[in-house]
Amino acid sequence: MKKFYITTPIYYVNSSPHIGHSYTNIACDTLARFKRFMGCEVLFATGTDEHGQKIKDAAEAKGVEPKEFVDAIVPVFLGLWKKLEIDYTDFIRTTDPRHEKVVKDILEMFHKNGDLYEGEYSGWYCTPCESFWIETQLVDGNCPDCQRKVEHIKEKNFFFKLSKYQDWLIDYIKSHDDFILPAMRRNEVLGFLKNPLNDLCVSRPKSRLSWGIEIPFSKGHVTYVWFDALINYISVCGYGSDEEKFNKFWPADVHMIGKDILRMHAVNWPIMLYAAGLELPKTIFAHGWWKIGGDKMSKSKGNVINPIEMADKYGVDAYRFFLLKEVQFGADGSFSEEALRSRINSDLANDLGNLLHRTLSMVEKYFSGIVPERRDLKYSDEITKALIDKAGLLDSEIKKGMDNIDFSYSLNGIWGLISIANKFIEQKAPWKLSKENKQDELKDMMYDLCEALRMVSLALMPFMPATSVKIAQQLGLEAIEKRSFNDLKWGLLKSGTKISKAAPLFPRIE
Ligand code: MSP
Repeated sequence: MKKFYITTPIYYVNSSPHIGHSYTNIACDTLARFKRFMGCEVLFATGTDEHGQKIKDAAEAKGVEPKEFVDAIVPVFLGLWKKLEIDYTDFIRTTDPRHEKVVKDILEMFHKNGDLYEGEYSGWYCTPCESFWIETQLVDGNCPDCQRKVEHIKEKNFFFKLSKYQDWLIDYIKSHDDFILPAMRRNEVLGFLKNPLNDLCVSRPKSRLSWGIEIPFSKGHVTYVWFDALINYISVCGYGSDEEKFNKFWPADVHMIGKDILRMHAVNWPIMLYAAGLELPKTIFAHGWWKIGGDKMSKSKGNVINPIEMADKYGVDAYRFFLLKEVQFGADGSFSEEALRSRINSDLANDLGNLLHRTLSMVEKYFSGIVPERRDLKYSDEITKALIDKAGLLDSEIKKGMDNIDFSYSLNGIWGLISIANKFIEQKAPWKLSKENKQDELKDMMYDLCEALRMVSLALMPFMPATSVKIAQQLGLEAIEKRSFNDLKWGLLKSGTKISKAAPLFPRIE
């Protein structure tokens, strides 16, 4: 059996999740479901990033210990993933002992092999970002990332030899086209690598920050949160604890991330892996950002959108659909409830919902709710040919979109079929066929519509799991849980199936 290992970033637990976090997990869930549907054994890992200054500050503001604080926020993430039907296989917390042990082992390894050395750091430090900067990187004397004040510090720390591996990394990226996607992100990383890399400071003195994984060979230091966090991708799949699992799943097939954390994943992480003698992930895919009217979402602007609220108000599948269809995966998007409502009304209520409801109403009216027999699978007119041809393309369109991590491409394929099916009804006007008593043609037509809907339901499975099942139930299909992508072929629907029409799937929102 083929394996597929996909990861999401592990989220900071200093505040509640917003639509941006849910976007990455919905995308990964869709790919994971697709791969399972294709018969792969899937490891889909997500989790939480629980150490570092941000978390310490948030806990302090609440007047509780960091561990108590993170323990209270983690269930909020778990609840969100459950609500959004994120079917992950493992959830890793950086405070898990299984993870802490791996971080310490890797630090020890680098310390022994000389990739980690002790040095004195003298320069500028941004406390909220936990980042070191040199004078020339500052913008108006402030942190270039968050524009806040920086302080001058001088202290002993441990450094990881990033610079030693710079040339190797450039060659690797240049010789592996799919390593960093989309291509513009690959170019961005190669551009960044034109300048010499600084070695990475991987420790923080406890006198400044005590909330982290202790450096095993220096009691006075904890591990830098990003060095700790990246390692989750190997600790969650059994590195150092479950050799069989690790050998089966590593290297990851896809590290899905937002474009904001590209450098950490495409520069620091590959070098860490290479220095540890491990293979590199096959693809790091950096998607775009959801903005609100062109602005970044932020607490201070008060424009943070809660995914639970959206899912409660509009339905989980409508929300998933919107995020995956509205923009090409990789590009930025602009989120608004208006845009969401308009997609629901056009694509879901008008196109898909209507097609199902009209079709089932006609099967009820003309054939007492039983899918009629088709004479043969031939067609006698252009519109029927167009419908059957389009359905025949569905399999390859879905696969192409998924292989390229382009969800809207696959969804456009499905909606292409839905749109032809709606045209098919308009052009062939079954009400006329009934009046004129053209029974055979009417039978063929109802079979074709139900068959197109069976295929739509199957193709929707990774994107809108609950809707896919509801359509299959209304069509009266059996053994829905045993369906597979091999069934995405025209003509498999059994005549004689008793449909089970229910309320419209997506009522229009006024
Ligand atoms: N803890 C780090 C990641 C460590 S991974 C080893 C982190 N966490 S985070 O909570 O800030 O979440 C970052 C991720 O959330 C982004 O990479 C992206 O996947 C997602 N998003 C956060 N805001 C987003 C938008 N506005 N739009 C889309 N996704 C964004 O960074």
